[in-house]
Amino acid sequence: MTKKTIKFASPLIDSKEKKEVLKILNSGIYSQGVKCKKFEQNFKRLTKAKYATTVNSCTSGMHLFYFSIGLKKGDEVIVPAQTHVATAHAVELTGAKPVFVDSNLADGNIDIRKVEKKINKKTKAICIVHFLGFPVEMDKLKKLAKKNKIFLLEDCALSLGAIYKKIHTGLWGDAGVFSFYPTKQITSGEGGMIITNNKKIYEKIKIKKSLGVGRSFLERKIPGIYDTIDVGFNYRMSEIHAAIGVEQLKKLPYFLRLRKKNFFYLKNKIEKIKNLKILFSKNKNSINAYYCMNILLLDKKLKERNLIITNLEKKNIGVSVNYPQPVPRMKYYKEKYGYKKNQFKNAEFISDKSISLPLGPHLNKKDLDHIANSLKEILI
Ligand SMILES: Cc1ncc(COP(=O)(O)O)c(C=O)c1O
Repeated sequence: MTKKTIKFASPLIDSKEKKEVLKILNSGIYSQGVKCKKFEQNFKRLTKAKYATTVNSCTSGMHLFYFSIGLKKGDEVIVPAQTHVATAHAVELTGAKPVFVDSNLADGNIDIRKVEKKINKKTKAICIVHFLGFPVEMDKLKKLAKKNKIFLLEDCALSLGAIYKKIHTGLWGDAGVFSFYPTKQITSGEGGMIITNNKKIYEKIKIKKSLGVGRSFLERKIPGIYDTIDVGFNYRMSEIHAAIGVEQLKKLPYFLRLRKKNFFYLKNKIEKIKNLKILFSKNKNSINAYYCMNILLLDKKLKERNLIITNLEKKNIGVSVNYPQPVPRMKYYKEKYGYKKNQFKNAEFISDKSISLPLGPHLNKKDLDHIANSLKEILI
C-alpha cells in the first residue's frame, strides 16, 4: 500500500505563480490594478467571449448576474436539483425562488425534457450546470429560453475548457460564471470569472461588483473623484488572486490533457467492476473538461457507500461526493419549500450512490493504479 496520501485535488503551483504573487506584494497595489485586467483579457482570448470580468467567487458572479437582470421576490429561476448549493443560493439571495429539476442518469446533467414543464409566468431564468465538466446540450436550452423570453445562465464552476458545438461553455447563455476554487481546472485561491457577449449585462455587472461606483480606480480622470450610479457589492477579485490565475490559465491546456488522460486510464481499469456505473458524456458535439469521475455503486445502500469512502480513506485515497444531497433535500431548502422522497429520483440516486474519484493533474500512473486496485479490492 502506498503511504503517500492521494488527495482529491491538489493545485499545481510552481515558481511562476510564486514569483508573480511576490511581484504584486512588492508593488503595493493589491486591488483594482492591471493583473485582473490581464486575467480578463487572457480569459476572453481563450473562450472567445466579447466581455469578461473577474469576481471573488463563482457564487458572487451568479449573484451579480441575477441582480443585473433585476431578479426579485416573486420571480422563479429553474436550476438543477443535482448541483452545488451555490447554484440555488445565488437565486435565493435575491428573494426569488429556485425551482428544481431532476437530472438524467447518463452524465448527471439537468434533464432538459423536464425543464419546459416548470416554465410559467413567474419564470425569469434558467440556470444550468455543466456537471463534472460535461457540457449540457445548450442549443436545445437556448431555443427554449428564447421561445419563452427568459434569461439563460450557465454555472460553469466545473466546466473550464468544456466546449459544446465549438462554442465554449458560458457563451451559449446570457452569461457564464466560472470558479477558481482550489479543486477546479485552474485555481486563483478563491475567485471567479463572468463571461458574456451582452454589453448591457457586462456593464451592469462591472458597476455592481464594485459598489455601484461609476468609474473604477484605473478609469478615473482625477484621482479620488468618482460618483455612485447604482447600489452594489464589493465582489472584486484581488490582484494577488489574479496573479495566480494568470499563471494557472497558461497551464490550462496541459491540465486538461492530463485530466482527460487520467479519466480514460481509470475508466479502462475499473469499468468492468460489477454493478459500477461511470457518469460520462459521449456526446460527439462536446469536448469535456473532466472535473472528477463519479462512479455509481448500483447495488450499495447509502451506509455501505459511506463505508466504502472510509475504506478508501484508510488506503490514503482522498475522494469527494458531488454532490452529497440533491439541493432541495438539504435542510434549508427542505424546510422552506418541502420535499417528498423520490421527488428528484435521479438526483437522489446520484447523491446517495456515488463517489467522486480524483482526476487532477497531480496524479501519476501509480496513483491511478492504486485507486483502481483499491476499488477492486473493496468492491469485489
Ligand atoms: C456547480 C458549482 N457551482 C458553484 C460553485 C461555487 O463556486 P465558488 O466556490 O467559486 O463560489 C461550486 C463550487 O464548487 C460548484 O460546484
